[in-house]
Amino acid sequence: MNHQTLPRHIGIIMDGNGRWAQQRGLPRTEGHKAGVEAFERICEYAADLGVPVLTFYAFSTENWVRPPQEVGAIMDLFRRQLNSTERRQAENEQKRWRIRYIGDLREDGAVPADILARLRNMETQSADKDKTVVNIAVNYGGQQEILSAAQRLARLCCEGVLVPEELTLQNIEDGLTTAGQPPPDLIIRPSGELRLSNFLLWQSAYAELWFSNILWPDFAPAHLDQALAAYARRNRRFGSSNARQATP
Ligand code: IPE
Ligand code: IPE
Ligand code: MG
Repeated sequence: MNHQTLPRHIGIIMDGNGRWAQQRGLPRTEGHKAGVEAFERICEYAADLGVPVLTFYAFSTENWVRPPQEVGAIMDLFRRQLNSTERRQAENEQKRWRIRYIGDLREDGAVPADILARLRNMETQSADKDKTVVNIAVNYGGQQEILSAAQRLARLCCEGVLVPEELTLQNIEDGLTTAGQPPPDLIIRPSGELRLSNFLLWQSAYAELWFSNILWPDFAPAHLDQALAAYARRNRRFGSSNARQATP
């Protein structure tokens, strides 16, 4: 894959953990555990390919409606994953990933305080890393993100800093959790569902979408290769009448 056709940003909806477990007669939690392993595998592979920005959808603002036992198990997995990553300092230094968490991560929000503290710690520890930006979407919803950007602009207008009629697309982008990053060129959703489920709604305006029936815990580097090959063959036009290949 040459650099011309490598996406600058890939978004991945890590879906299908529950079905993966159910197919094996295991509790759904086992699917989430296997999902964490798939995350580590694919993140490493994509970073080594040289993809500059990766965004993984881990938990949506809507996922809280699941049974408390499942939500609790997922939160425990976050804790475990954060602990084990914190312990692997030398490995982290070598990987040079800048980890960022996106979503509603307010202190008085739904994410437990101890997890928030660990997320912040991870962000601080990796803040100077420059190889790959890894965004992890936790308590994330695209509509809520746009609402929050709009609230920020409304506040600035009320304060007289901005004028409603002069607002630009850039003003909205500046208020998103991905501000300053390129938009996703490619969004991958495994598990057979053909929808975005509130993932990067604003940012995906011109993203290429790639769907697969593979369940996330089974997602392997070869599947990412398939997605990248499909992406490299896409004609991206951005509204023009000229066919343009992949990355602008
Ligand atoms: C994705 O897998 C993980 C989360 C949404 C937290 P699911 O748990 O949605 O798995 P399926 O879709 O039920 O198979
Ligand atoms: C999307 O998967 C959210 C994550 C993968 C974190 P869901 O399983 O929640 O999506 P729906 O409910 O099938 O649309
Ligand atoms: Mg699902």
